[in-house]
Amino acid sequence: MKIAVFGDIHNSFSQADLEYFEGHPYPVYLFVGDLGKASFSRTQKTIGLMNRIAQKPDSLFVMPGNHDGPGFFMLAGELFRWEWLQKLFLPRTLRHIRRITEILSNGTFGGYSFFPLPEFTLLLSRPYSMGSRVNYPPLMETLYGVRNYRDSVRMYKKILDQIRHEHPEKPVVILAHNGPKGCGHKKDDLWGSDFTRKIRDWGEIDLKLAIQYGKKIGLKIPAVVGGHMHRTPVQPDRRDILLKEGTLYLNAADVPRVIQGKHTFYELEISGGTARAQKIEFGQ
Ligand SMILES: [Fe+2]
Repeated sequence: MKIAVFGDIHNSFSQADLEYFEGHPYPVYLFVGDLGKASFSRTQKTIGLMNRIAQKPDSLFVMPGNHDGPGFFMLAGELFRWEWLQKLFLPRTLRHIRRITEILSNGTFGGYSFFPLPEFTLLLSRPYSMGSRVNYPPLMETLYGVRNYRDSVRMYKKILDQIRHEHPEKPVVILAHNGPKGCGHKKDDLWGSDFTRKIRDWGEIDLKLAIQYGKKIGLKIPAVVGGHMHRTPVQPDRRDILLKEGTLYLNAADVPRVIQGKHTFYELEISGGTARAQKIEFGQ
């Protein structure tokens, strides 16, 4: 089964994409999140277009990124760890999230859940992730009752136990925003930081523990897909794919994903318990 994966699109999604995928349809489309930028009205237009890519139910899944709902002040509150500021902007953020969910009427936008698809189970991981802790604690507590890594790991284990119980033979594909720890700590590794004074692995520890736990209880996890740490014209050498311990890790975040009319996305092939991925380009 071949599926399409989009990294952080940050508004780089247009009518040209819809036309391409009408001619080259995929049964499932995964978006790792960070759909827009600062302007929420522009983001709403992008999401409205994206929503039209879904040609049947259970074909469009979107992982909320750290920009998908939280605006400037919420983000500042997270960067400075000012909970008072986050609480002040929580109602506005919740309104934005509700609006995104409404516009994405053909898709699923959320986290900590799973969907049994024909050839694999899709696990939506912790949403709004941007590294170093469970981000936006007031928001995460309101939406999921999760405030810290311990809560998150508990949540993951519960979900994985349920998958193991209901679909023990199906491989599991994980969709995340920021990827897991363990994929390297150098600047050009999948989730190595390129902005901290000392370069380090910026991946999520709870997601790494979840993957370990899933494998321990006998689940096959052929692919883990994320983004957030961008591959840009300034930093073009960030790796996109890593094969490790039977799992393919993909950082799909080419930003911008459209350069001079050339559009990119990843094709991920899940066959039995294994995965392959390749970047596809179309346009001029
Ligand atoms: Fe992000």
